[in-house]
Amino acid sequence: MIISNGQNKLNIAVFISGKGSNLKNLIEFSLKKNSKFKITLIVSSKSKAKGLGYSKKYNIEKKIFNFKNQENTENNLIRILKDRKINLICLAGFMKILSKNFIKKFNGKIINIHPSLLPKYKGLDTHLRVLKNKEKYSGCTVHFVNSKLDSGKIILQKKVKIFKKDTPKSLSRRILLQEHIIYPKALMKVLINL
Ligand code: GRF
Repeated sequence: MIISNGQNKLNIAVFISGKGSNLKNLIEFSLKKNSKFKITLIVSSKSKAKGLGYSKKYNIEKKIFNFKNQENTENNLIRILKDRKINLICLAGFMKILSKNFIKKFNGKIINIHPSLLPKYKGLDTHLRVLKNKEKYSGCTVHFVNSKLDSGKIILQKKVKIFKKDTPKSLSRRILLQEHIIYPKALMKVLINL
């Protein structure tokens, strides 16, 4: 276990592809007094990801990879992550599927947030599928990443009630609010055991 003392904080890389509201939330959490980690690297699979703006705002290094040649990209990334002494990778709206090889290299050190109550509704278009099936509840899950999509061990989950008038947009908005609560909590849980 590494105990942070202000100088010895754990280094976290956040991987994004879009808006980056979870990224922003994790950065702000990391800036609180007594925080045990710092976000030292932002990796984006899209050069136009809105979330990249937080790199400048919070003075955090960013790297952009389009993953066209996945093997090369991941080898590059592994080198950078090791060089920056990254202790944990947080996926937050990251739209690429990491290879088995990459996941093995960071075994137990990659976590993800998914907007459903896993193991239900793995994959894309979660809210639409949940509403089509007339579910009463959905939610969000933070889990470890293993080689099967959205299938790793669950760290934390939050249930969200579905209303009759809900659309994918309204539901996603309500779930996102809960994501912002559970992701930092899950992260703290994981860091204690690193
Ligand atoms: C979140 O709903 C997350 O659960 C999913 O992608 C969305 C990312 O949102 N994996 P943001 O980019 O963090 O705002």
